[in-house]
Amino acid sequence: MEIKLYPPITNASGPHCVTYEELERIARSAAGAVVTKSMTHCPRQGNPEPRLRAHLDGGIGSLNSMGLPNLGYQEYAKLIPKLKGFGKPIIASIASAPCAHGLPPVEQYREIAVTIERAGADALELNLSCPNLEDVPIAMDPQGVRAVLQAVTREVKIPIGVKLPPYNNTPKLFEEIARTLLDFEISYIATINSEPLTLDIDLATRTKVIRPNEGFGGLGGPAVLPIALAEVHRFYKFFQKHRAKIAVWGVGGITRPEDAIKHFLAGASVVQIGTLFLWEGPTVFEKLWAGIEQWLAENGFSSVEEIIGAVREI
Ligand SMILES: Cc1cc2nc3c(=O)[nH]c(=O)nc-3n(C[C@H](O)[C@H](O)[C@H](O)COP(=O)(O)O)c2cc1C
Repeated sequence: MEIKLYPPITNASGPHCVTYEELERIARSAAGAVVTKSMTHCPRQGNPEPRLRAHLDGGIGSLNSMGLPNLGYQEYAKLIPKLKGFGKPIIASIASAPCAHGLPPVEQYREIAVTIERAGADALELNLSCPNLEDVPIAMDPQGVRAVLQAVTREVKIPIGVKLPPYNNTPKLFEEIARTLLDFEISYIATINSEPLTLDIDLATRTKVIRPNEGFGGLGGPAVLPIALAEVHRFYKFFQKHRAKIAVWGVGGITRPEDAIKHFLAGASVVQIGTLFLWEGPTVFEKLWAGIEQWLAENGFSSVEEIIGAVREI
């Protein structure tokens, strides 16, 4: 099932979308939908601080190892009906994490998905790619991806998106994951989650910039734009080749309208904004959309649809 957004731009799950107040601010902004923080079965405090360096040297991006701090899915089930009052699609991001109940990950996704659909969410975004938990993300294991999608698609009717990590230089794994996705009725993939296993150092103190996981965390912002474009493009081409009706939502490195245009040309039909939204808050959607519309008009296009996947070979 398809989910259409206007404008085709939303926040990326994570920054400023944990509490009701934050979510309401997105609902009141020019974003085309509201995406929640990835919710887990149990509420989570997240990793010890400092766990986020919002501004890396040279303006290249953000580095985080938040560890999914969130209110727990039961709270989001209560918030969603209120948020729906703003008339925008509510997309609930769902993740699994080690939990006091000891529920296996697949069961966590299934239980959260069923409850959140009942609460009135318009779509689910299954985050299979959090880089900052103890376990290897499910998105790196085709059988794990299959098990989660089987469990969730069996029981849920609303559109389902899947948030993926960058597969970088692992073409075999990329192919296996992409083929697995073809077997399910999913609406979209969102790529990329933060680039995992990245590190930065504060020269003034000669310390790592974040504490958890020995300083290793996920990178977002301008530095990841080319990585995100590559992932968007190869998934787009793969789905075209296999005539799959799975949309590609582009996430990663968008801080200017031109960056969003590149995502559309690479094959994205919606773009999500993480680090820039972290930096500047909810006015970013209006600013980016105005710039996108201006670029389209200046280049003789009347809608984003006309440029999706339209990048030319050289
Ligand atoms: C502080 C922070 C928290 C994040 N938390 C989540 C999360 O809970 N779920 C998720 O799917 N992605 C999360 N992400 C990843 C973003 O959604 C996005 O995929 C990534 O930052 C790349 O986009 P960007 O370059 O626009 O930042 C987080 C990113 C940041 C910076």
